[in-house]
Amino acid sequence: MSNTAHTDPKLAQKQAVAKSALAYIEDGMILGVGTGSTVNCLIELLPQVRLKGAVASSQVTEDKLRALGIEIFDLNAVGELDLYIDGADEIDAHGNMIKGGGGALTREKIVAVASKRFVCMVDDSKTVAKLGKFPVAVEVLPQARSYVARELVKLGGEPVYREGFVTDYGNVILDTYDLDITDPAELESTLNNIVGVVCNGIFASQSAHIMLKAGDDGVSTVK
Ligand code: 5RP
Repeated sequence: MSNTAHTDPKLAQKQAVAKSALAYIEDGMILGVGTGSTVNCLIELLPQVRLKGAVASSQVTEDKLRALGIEIFDLNAVGELDLYIDGADEIDAHGNMIKGGGGALTREKIVAVASKRFVCMVDDSKTVAKLGKFPVAVEVLPQARSYVARELVKLGGEPVYREGFVTDYGNVILDTYDLDITDPAELESTLNNIVGVVCNGIFASQSAHIMLKAGDDGVSTVK
């Protein structure tokens, strides 16, 4: 067995973009914190800032924040958040995103919609002219899985059941390839209207307000 550790080729960019996101965090804030490997780089830096606490977008993120001694708040108890910081699987020039590669899309969308500003941190592999190479995660109530899959096929998609994965809410995910995402907001709404769908990974109604994009030459800001 090889003992060579797997290294993420984008790790340096993820660390750089996470560092630049710290500038958006204000003293005493309750911060909305996303999920994923880019966010993990941010979480490692959070002891450098003075937060009142955080609202977590997944159980994994919540556990990591608690391990650092950061207080976790229930979203219902705190009202609107000033800031949500998260990553994305794809993002276009308008801030529309595909998220959900880590399966936390529903809780991420809830925290995003309850926040005034969404700062999205990406490395240079995530920016696209048109969304859709990355599959759209569709979170589905377990009993509706086959029905929703047939509806996704009617829309031109190719749904793949994410085997062995259960969301924080006890649901399943259909990773859907080949959808035509010419109009992200329209498709987001169409997918939400399928009975049995809990949420989908197109974030157009909750697009990012600010994109921080890391490249080999540093981090650029797109507003
Ligand atoms: C998890 C997400 C993540 O934000 C997205 O998958 C990006 O993750 P990473 O930073 O690991 O590339 O939506 O549900």
